[in-house]
Amino acid sequence: KNEKMEFPKGFLWGGATAANQLEGGFHEGNKGLNIADVLPGGKERLKLLQSPGFNFEMDTEKYSYPNHEAIDFYHRYKEDIALFAEMGFKVYRMSIAWTRIFPNGTELEPNEAGLAFYDRVFDELHKYGIEPVVTMSHYEMPVNLVKEYGGWRSREVVTFFERYAKVILNRYKNKVKYWLTFNEINSGLEMPIMGLGFAIQKEEDKYQPTFQAFHHQFVASSLAVKACHEIIPEAKIGCMILYIPTYSFDCNPENVLYAQQEARFFNTFCADVQVKGKYPSFIQRYFREHSIKLEMKPGDLELIKSYPVDFISFSYYMSRTEMKDKPSGDTVEGNILGGVKNPFLKASDWGWEIDPIGLRITLNEFYDRYQKPLFVVENGLGAKDKVEEDGSINDDYRIEYIREHIIQMREAIEDGVELMGYTPWGCIDLVSASTGEMSKRYGFIYVDKNDDGSGTLERKRKKSFNWYKDVIASNGSEI
Ligand code: BG6
Repeated sequence: KNEKMEFPKGFLWGGATAANQLEGGFHEGNKGLNIADVLPGGKERLKLLQSPGFNFEMDTEKYSYPNHEAIDFYHRYKEDIALFAEMGFKVYRMSIAWTRIFPNGTELEPNEAGLAFYDRVFDELHKYGIEPVVTMSHYEMPVNLVKEYGGWRSREVVTFFERYAKVILNRYKNKVKYWLTFNEINSGLEMPIMGLGFAIQKEEDKYQPTFQAFHHQFVASSLAVKACHEIIPEAKIGCMILYIPTYSFDCNPENVLYAQQEARFFNTFCADVQVKGKYPSFIQRYFREHSIKLEMKPGDLELIKSYPVDFISFSYYMSRTEMKDKPSGDTVEGNILGGVKNPFLKASDWGWEIDPIGLRITLNEFYDRYQKPLFVVENGLGAKDKVEEDGSINDDYRIEYIREHIIQMREAIEDGVELMGYTPWGCIDLVSASTGEMSKRYGFIYVDKNDDGSGTLERKRKKSFNWYKDVIASNGSEI
């Protein structure tokens, strides 16, 4: 036992999921269609997400839609929460599906069946002393808002979101004290379909609509922070950033500068606005060079300034290595932002470069910049698991991945970083966001479901289940 490894008292150990990736029940309880419901399964999904012109229509002849049933948490949440409790979770990060509460996004009154479902989930969590950490919007915008309003391009969506936020804050004010606004808000820079609710059309310039949509989300985020503090004074509300530390391939200043500028743009533009309460100076040059002119209402900038978030949550899976002029053929396909191969790192089966030290670098960079509490709300290894004849699943690779990242979190705490907690992604196997696959598994809990939709949905404890249980029980000292 290494005494040094114990984490601060009250550290929030847990796991993370999102409604659209595990609930299923996509038509039940009067739920409306959301973006994830119309995304097909398999590699086609990634292509759609990255190519222009997606129309948000389903084509059941051609594709399957894995989020419709997902892992059926909608009916099995009691069993699943009991397993989370068995691992000793202190918190459980989940999201509310906007379309369960406002099926079309535009209704004046919320849908009681949807509200009641989350009451049951929160009550079940509290039965075991697990605090929910709730994302208000995790790639789950109502399709109706996409089709009728062009997603977050439209200012009107701010009003719809504010109504939704106020309804859930009021309803769950005695049940939820940790809130997150938009999941991986900055992912909209690369994949506007999921985060911003619109596809870039071939003929149009992506810059103006993307940043206008971000502006609307920043306003909506500040309105949510304001409402949260008014309705639940003791609650904390954070932003959620997809963070990918970006290294220069070598010490050529051209490459160092390129890596620095890419990193600043992707990792900190949104966080700067949500945490510091103002647009960063560096973005003005970008706006000028791309002829971006934001439409704002009087009072927007004051609102953003007055209601920054209380903490910063983020996902961390990989790092990225960059050079200004990339040689052809030496790029990393899997990494969300590409980049060149890092000779010091191995990659997951999906090509994501595994870099535990990058998490320590991230934590230090974030804390230096903002001096606000941090929360690692996603991290993990997507891998294929094998069920042995005796039913066991020996996922030592996953244990190793998570162990190495926990060690680096502890180092960062020693460095002086204020870290609230750790909720590894997909604590129970669920549908992958980028590829819609079940076979890209992250869980401590195995779910018997395959890419073709077959399977009994039975849950099994993987080897990592008991390992993580011991980690939590020892507050990070038994790893
Ligand atoms: C994050 C998302 O990008 O990464 C999750 O917030 C997602 O929704 C996770 O599932 C892992 O990505 P993927 O594509 O492997 O599911």
